[in-house]
Amino acid sequence: MTQIKKSFVDFLPFHIGNLVAKLPIIQGGMGVGISLSGLASAVAKEGGIGVISAACIGRTPRYESRKISDEQALAEDIQRARKLSAGVIGVNIMVALTNFESLCRTASQQGADIIFAGAGLPLALPSFIDKDSKTKLVPIVSSGKAATMIARWWKEKYHRLPDAFVAEGPMAGGHLGFKSSQIHDPDYTLDKILPDVCAVAGELSQSGDVHIPVIAAGGIFSGDDINRYLELGAEAVQMGTRFVATTECDAPDSFKQSYVDSKQEDILIVQSPVGMPGRALKNSFIKKMEQGETSPVSCRYHCITSCKRSKSAYCIADALLRSLSGNAQEGLIFVGTNAWRIQKVQSVRELIKELKDEYLQARRSNTPVFESLESI
Ligand SMILES: Cc1cc2nc3c(=O)[nH]c(=O)nc-3n(C[C@H](O)[C@H](O)[C@H](O)COP(=O)(O)O)c2cc1C
Repeated sequence: MTQIKKSFVDFLPFHIGNLVAKLPIIQGGMGVGISLSGLASAVAKEGGIGVISAACIGRTPRYESRKISDEQALAEDIQRARKLSAGVIGVNIMVALTNFESLCRTASQQGADIIFAGAGLPLALPSFIDKDSKTKLVPIVSSGKAATMIARWWKEKYHRLPDAFVAEGPMAGGHLGFKSSQIHDPDYTLDKILPDVCAVAGELSQSGDVHIPVIAAGGIFSGDDINRYLELGAEAVQMGTRFVATTECDAPDSFKQSYVDSKQEDILIVQSPVGMPGRALKNSFIKKMEQGETSPVSCRYHCITSCKRSKSAYCIADALLRSLSGNAQEGLIFVGTNAWRIQKVQSVRELIKELKDEYLQARRSNTPVFESLESI
């Protein structure tokens, strides 16, 4: 009897150059203070890629009382993550940050495995990194056009290419790389963007004799979704919202609970002083903002290059930091479109097991299977 073994390919490891994560799952960097070494190390320990957010990290509750710089806090947080896990640790640094350059230098000097850079085009990023640095550079883009622009610039100026791209669609949490009018436009969905970014990465890979993987992000909730985007050409997925509702997430319990309690109609688009739309949870702060009752009293942080202080309805750093203070109603709570589907806070291990089971289930139902064949 010939037996063809029932085998539904498990998650494949994810490679960026010589860097290997056991799982094709990246925990998206979440500022301010939502993903620090606690969450990043827990994800890395389970085989995914854990990502520390560098945004205003020195002002987050863990570091604030010591009055240290964002750079020093980031260095300490990377070291802390390294002590807690031997897995892959990245850092998310927003291009729009006024200290983008020095945070990138710190991340690479501290041996971060990857820098993820979004909220702007990271055109000068390679110049902030030592030539012999092993840190991989991964731009977060919302179109194939943006991926092409970055790659052309890097090739011409720095003779290198991005190590991977994150293609992030408009269902993501946090700041969105789209105009407000594009967010619900069917021409700008992740399903439309991803193949474009994959095509650009494919051409670059061929011409540069390298392999540039693409990571899909934005609205990916279940193992079924992971299967779908891997089949659409991504080699890994980046998830933010799901990782907020984990015990290890660095946000306070009140922040996590606001996800569990949220309803679909509470999730809306707000205009951020960063100059980009963002997705947030309706709460007392948003209601006050809608009624024109918020204002940036003074600028204490000078954190965002594009912030129009005099015209902004609120200070983004203050609003995000307030949501860490334990009063989720009075701060800005960024969420992805699917936050309302979250039912509970669970451990990173439980979440990853759930995603894996769902992924395997999806593969089982999508793959034609011959359990055994009788030889004649
Ligand atoms: C609370 C929160 C904060 C975020 N902060 C950042 C950030 O500082 N920089 C960034 O590039 N992306 C940020 N993101 C986006 C995530 O890294 C991730 O790509 C995105 O949330 C993926 O979509 P999902 O939430 O639907 O999984 C944030 C997302 C959330 C939910």
